[in-house]
Amino acid sequence: EQRPRVLSGIQPTADSFHLGNYLGAIRQWVAMQDTHDTFYCVVDLHAITVEHDPKLLRRRTRVSAAQLLALGIDPERATLFVQSHVPEHAQLGWVMQCLTGFGEASRMTQFKDKSAKQQTDRVSLGLFGYPALQAADILAYQAAYVPVGEDQRQHLELTRDLAQRFNSRFGRTFRLPEPYIVKDAAKIYDLQDPSAKMSKSSSAPGGIVDLLDDPKVSAKKVRSAVTDTGREIVYDPEAKPGVSNLLAIYSALAGRPLAALEAEFDGKGYGDLKKAVAEVLVEFVTPIQERVRGYLDDPAELDKVLARGAERAREVASRTLARAYDRLGF
Ligand code: ADP
Ligand code: NA
Repeated sequence: EQRPRVLSGIQPTADSFHLGNYLGAIRQWVAMQDTHDTFYCVVDLHAITVEHDPKLLRRRTRVSAAQLLALGIDPERATLFVQSHVPEHAQLGWVMQCLTGFGEASRMTQFKDKSAKQQTDRVSLGLFGYPALQAADILAYQAAYVPVGEDQRQHLELTRDLAQRFNSRFGRTFRLPEPYIVKDAAKIYDLQDPSAKMSKSSSAPGGIVDLLDDPKVSAKKVRSAVTDTGREIVYDPEAKPGVSNLLAIYSALAGRPLAALEAEFDGKGYGDLKKAVAEVLVEFVTPIQERVRGYLDDPAELDKVLARGAERAREVASRTLARAYDRLGF
């Protein structure tokens, strides 16, 4: 395989991916299947770093995998798997924890944010050690690139430090991954508060469009989106965050440049824009939902796809682990 290898993961922590997950990440995963040797995983081990419900986790893991398939991840071209099906992640994760300094883990801003938000006085060691497991996720595959958003940059930096540290102490074992900055990744904002990114942890449910929501509900959310003062439909995220967000969504879903949309809506009103966005959105999610149902209605087929993915992933991860163990003196 000559193509550069890529590893990326997504947490099964919601009943549905939202439009930001798709337009900001998964859509690029789909595109990279043509140009890279892609490994995509549903990171369920990461999902238990905070208190969780086993039944929910099981369902969400399957729904997440079904959505990835429905959105265009092709198991013939990509290696799609569930993290816990590949025990090498946890094994190499321990090794990475042992290489990580308490101080450097303490400096991870995501840990500071997430632990502060926990409704418990028992923040887990798992949450603290999360970046070490994430390093193992990446290094196990000798990934050349990791698509990362701004919020994951610090973790990738740590991954590189850990790889470097291992290599210099024990001999060259891990490839140092580079961040892959995705060019056409759209950042999608909350429909009710376009100053905040669309997020599953958003407090206003009207602001987030879940791919598996009833399309009628999603259309209504778009029609009720907060827009800006004035009436001109122009892409200007500073002055017109609400309208610009709608234009960005429209542009990405319809595959049309922003300038063409500005021309189309010249002289028209916000209501026209919302109606058009609602329409492309419904057209987009309807077949996706059908395909998701197809995968969920055939659990044996989904199991087979994921078992095949795990087997392919293990071939690579077990080679890396064996080498690392040998170097460590095991
Ligand atoms: P959330 O922010 O809803 O908790 P995650 O952190 O699980 O979502 O993100 C999963 C992937 O989706 C990440 O690659 C992240 O960068 C991307 N993503 C999440 N929200 C958005 C958004 N509003 N716009 C663009 N990309 C997003
Ligand atoms: Na997030």
